[in-house]
Amino acid sequence: MNVKSKRNIATTIRLLKAFRLEQKDPDSFYGFLAQDGLGLLSNYTELQNKTVLDIGGGAGYFSAGFRANGAKCFVLEPFKDELFWRGSPPENSILADGYDIPLRSNSVDISFSSNVLEHVRYPAKFITEMIRITKHGGIIFFCFTSWYSPWGGHETSPWHYFGGDFARKRYENKYCRPVKNKYDNSLFKILVKDVYNLLNNLDGVKILETCPRYYPLWTKPMMKVPILSEVLTWNMAVIMEKI
Ligand SMILES: C[S@@+](CC[C@H](N)C(=O)[O-])C[C@H]1O[C@@H](n2cnc3c(N)ncnc32)[C@H](O)[C@@H]1O
Repeated sequence: MNVKSKRNIATTIRLLKAFRLEQKDPDSFYGFLAQDGLGLLSNYTELQNKTVLDIGGGAGYFSAGFRANGAKCFVLEPFKDELFWRGSPPENSILADGYDIPLRSNSVDISFSSNVLEHVRYPAKFITEMIRITKHGGIIFFCFTSWYSPWGGHETSPWHYFGGDFARKRYENKYCRPVKNKYDNSLFKILVKDVYNLLNNLDGVKILETCPRYYPLWTKPMMKVPILSEVLTWNMAVIMEKI
């Protein structure tokens, strides 16, 4: 399978429409998202024969995609429920935390993390650990949903615009069940500008790309526009090389 992608508006529309499938048909939704994410990544690196760690890889949709593209992929996931979400855990999985990866420094070709950063309290620590385990010349990819995007509050959206606690309480009152992504506990307010600040303070990496993950690359300039970028970017992808 060759996933190299040239994203255009039609792909963006398909991706955004796919969000409606998340609850009804998660296999199609996550499978499609994984295929698209690997398409973006493969514009910056070959996948064939690469060793990959998918950090916060959950049920393993990305790792299946990596393997289909000839990579040797391991999944690191701290929560058993996520790992076993599809019945059995993904091939080559490790139960561990992204803050403290049980691998030697400089050991993988690609450190990969999709939509995990908004779920960790200390993003700088998380990214530093991703960099540590990556070989020199290797690639670090991460992406996240920014807080002020329409999906920033996840299942509580768009009420997160009135505050994370408000949105959680509203959801729990309405649906009489706890939220999965709890504000300030398992879902954090992370902004595009926070990540640019964080990138400015990183050593030992070259930034190859920062872009909206779901849109064509020509929309990139919007990421430099304060306020607008927070709402419109939706999901920010960062691709770096360890030097
Ligand atoms: C929204 S899911 C994303 C799953 C998968 N990466 C994807 O994009 O389909 C967020 C994942 O991050 C994981 N996670 C949360 N905190 C983490 C941590 N400290 N280290 C590694 N993974 C973490 C969660 O368990 C969950 O599987």
